[in-house]
Amino acid sequence: MRLDKLLSLVALSLLTVAIPAPDSAQSSQASRDASSSTSQSSTTTKSNTNNSTASATSSSINSATTSLRSSVNITSTPSATATSTSATTSTAVASPPPSKNGTTPSKNGTTPSKNGTTGLVNGVLSVGSYTPKLSKYLPVADISWDKYSVIKFGPIPLTKDIGLGLIGAQGPEVENLLKQLVKTAHANHVKVVLSIGGREGSQYFSSMMPQNGYDSASALVSSIHVLKSEYNLDGFDFDWEFPGNTNDGLPCNQRNESDSGNFSLFLRAFRAKDSPDAATAVSATVGLAPFNSGEYGVPLLDVSLAFAEFLDYVTIMNYDVWTPASAVPLVGPNAPLQVGCTFDNRVSSQSARTAVEAWTKAGMPAAKILLGVPTYGHSYAVEPSAAIDASGKLAEYPAFNGGAHPQGDVWDVIPGPNATDVCGNATHITGDWYFRNLVNATDGFLDANGTAREDIWYRYDDCTQTPYAYNKTSGIMLSYDDVKSFEAKGKFVKAMKLGGFAVWEAAGDYNDLLLDAILDGVRSG
Ligand SMILES: *[C@@H]1O[C@H](CO)[C@@H](O)[C@H](O)[C@H]1NC(C)=O
Ligand SMILES: *[C@@H]1O[C@H](CO)[C@@H](O)[C@H](O)[C@H]1NC(C)=O
Ligand SMILES: *[C@@H]1O[C@H](CO)[C@@H](O)[C@H](O)[C@H]1NC(C)=O
Ligand SMILES: *[C@@H]1O[C@H](CO)[C@@H](O)[C@H](O)[C@H]1NC(C)=O
Ligand SMILES: *[C@@H]1O[C@H](CO)[C@@H](O)[C@H](O)[C@H]1NC(C)=O
Ligand SMILES: *[C@@H]1O[C@H](CO)[C@@H](O)[C@H](O)[C@H]1NC(C)=O
Ligand SMILES: *[C@@H]1O[C@H](CO)[C@@H](O)[C@H](O)[C@H]1NC(C)=O
Ligand SMILES: *[C@@H]1O[C@H](CO)[C@@H](O)[C@H](O)[C@H]1NC(C)=O
Ligand SMILES: *[C@@H]1O[C@H](CO)[C@@H](O)[C@H](O)[C@H]1NC(C)=O
Ligand SMILES: *[C@@H]1O[C@H](CO)[C@@H](O)[C@H](O)[C@H]1NC(C)=O
Ligand SMILES: *[C@@H]1O[C@H](CO)[C@@H](O)[C@H](O)[C@H]1NC(C)=O
Ligand SMILES: *[C@@H]1O[C@H](CO)[C@@H](O)[C@H](O)[C@H]1NC(C)=O
Repeated sequence: MRLDKLLSLVALSLLTVAIPAPDSAQSSQASRDASSSTSQSSTTTKSNTNNSTASATSSSINSATTSLRSSVNITSTPSATATSTSATTSTAVASPPPSKNGTTPSKNGTTPSKNGTTGLVNGVLSVGSYTPKLSKYLPVADISWDKYSVIKFGPIPLTKDIGLGLIGAQGPEVENLLKQLVKTAHANHVKVVLSIGGREGSQYFSSMMPQNGYDSASALVSSIHVLKSEYNLDGFDFDWEFPGNTNDGLPCNQRNESDSGNFSLFLRAFRAKDSPDAATAVSATVGLAPFNSGEYGVPLLDVSLAFAEFLDYVTIMNYDVWTPASAVPLVGPNAPLQVGCTFDNRVSSQSARTAVEAWTKAGMPAAKILLGVPTYGHSYAVEPSAAIDASGKLAEYPAFNGGAHPQGDVWDVIPGPNATDVCGNATHITGDWYFRNLVNATDGFLDANGTAREDIWYRYDDCTQTPYAYNKTSGIMLSYDDVKSFEAKGKFVKAMKLGGFAVWEAAGDYNDLLLDAILDGVRSG
């Protein structure tokens, strides 16, 4: 069958849509470099198609790639690279975090158990995002290699002109960092995948997809495959935020009602180009709801054939579910695990649980889902009168002052005078605090064990399974994740039989408190 014919068939098949939940109106999202918002608002209800069309058309596509697919195995032993043994030394950093030279016991005294064959840690895929921007705070040599299966490098923006080379366009520092990372990772039997896109790097995905026929995408497919051999990568993560986006990606991103269908075609072409023994890992970073259908804002009803067949896994970004930019000015959990809480009835129904349910219902196998977990929290300006309730306890979901824009941690800086994002809008501070800085900063909220300091008010919300903390002197409330919530998320990963988890981002942890906690949760869950 001709490829352009396949293209239109798949586009057709992707018309399958879901009826959104009536209460799924979602906040606008805070933007941050590369990180992303997740939720997809749904204002339209339309369900006049069903998934039988998808099955018919996509199965013919799948049969063509079945043999290729069976050779793709994220858990297989790294090849060609295992001989690289020279440990890479890191560039000097003023005061690096505690030494990670060897096997660090988890905080409960149990060493994470990594399977040398599969690379799984405590039985799951343990992925850490490693961004060039924060690399100076976590030198390559200090990455906890024994606790990760995969390091995800990037995201690197998808440039308009792929001919420039994604990595080359980033300059020699990033290029050298990637080389150093791959070398050290492979010496430690850890895989490296290149993340492409990100919140600030998804502008051109739409037109780079095979919307005008197979050939227009083949250049991109080839260019990315070339990167694999050039940098000795193990695979790629496509972080397109978001195909067919409505309100959740940046406003200047290209978009098209056929984005999701075209993305599926692209993934198929990408897989088909892989040589049978190359075993390139292919994954995607996704929102809380399945990819948009042709109907903007309406998620696909079935992703099993158009996506699950082509992807080793998806990472659900269960963060920024509630931010200071949210429509309702209440402090809410950044990364709720559960729904059905008082909070949810008021403002949101989204959480790790609803997201996993939405994706599995749409046909993504649980084993191919990784739970994205954040090492940062959002801060809010909250008056003491609102922060502390009548019983003298920290209040649940208090109102915050939307006019105040609290400064976050030391990494929360505007890159330069008149700095703008890729859309040309002025860059603002985010108010975000990474866990590491919550511990390390003199005005951080946490002690070296990751627990609230003496003069900090703390509450763990048992319903959403997220902590809040409050500094009454500064009037700053923080919604974040801690050891307890990460352990809960680890148990959830295990209970739901997910493929694993992905930490955004590795540098944000402190002394592996969070990483150890989620691995503990996975082990005991
Ligand atoms: C679903 O597909 C079947 C078979 O193609 C068709 O008979 C049926 O009418 C479709 N349902 C809807 C709601 O479109
Ligand atoms: C993946 O690779 C591992 C280790 O080589 C192997 O045990 C497993 O069967 C493979 N899985 C698939 C689905 O090929
Ligand atoms: C802690 O903060 C100091 C300065 O405030 C910095 O030099 C050091 O690198 C930080 N340490 C960590 C582990 O982030
Ligand atoms: C890690 O470094 C410390 C201090 O330099 C040393 O005492 C320890 O033996 C090292 N551990 C491993 C596993 O190399
Ligand atoms: C590692 O995984 C492989 C493949 O699943 C399995 O056969 C082996 O028993 C595992 N090794 C350990 C030590 O668990
Ligand atoms: C979507 O892409 C198709 C094919 O390139 C094009 O004809 C159409 O105008 C695009 N739609 C939008 C809204 O840009
Ligand atoms: C799609 O159709 C198949 C076969 O009719 C059905 O088993 C499956 O549940 C449907 N998927 C969804 C998401 O409705
Ligand atoms: C920033 O913008 C202001 C006002 O447009 C301008 O006067 C100033 O020169 C700009 N600064 C830089 C560093 O570009
Ligand atoms: C940013 O810029 C785009 C145009 O590039 C505009 O549509 C949008 O409204 C601006 N504002 C924000 C907050 O994104
Ligand atoms: C609380 O806020 C005050 C005022 O900004 C600051 O001086 C103090 O260090 C903060 N306390 C903690 C534990 O972060
Ligand atoms: C951290 O926990 C350990 C063990 O419970 C305790 O001995 C130590 O005092 C704690 N450190 C801080 C800064 O609270
Ligand atoms: C780890 O230890 C803490 C207490 O220090 C306990 O509450 C928690 O349940 C333990 N986690 C596991 C997985 O054993």
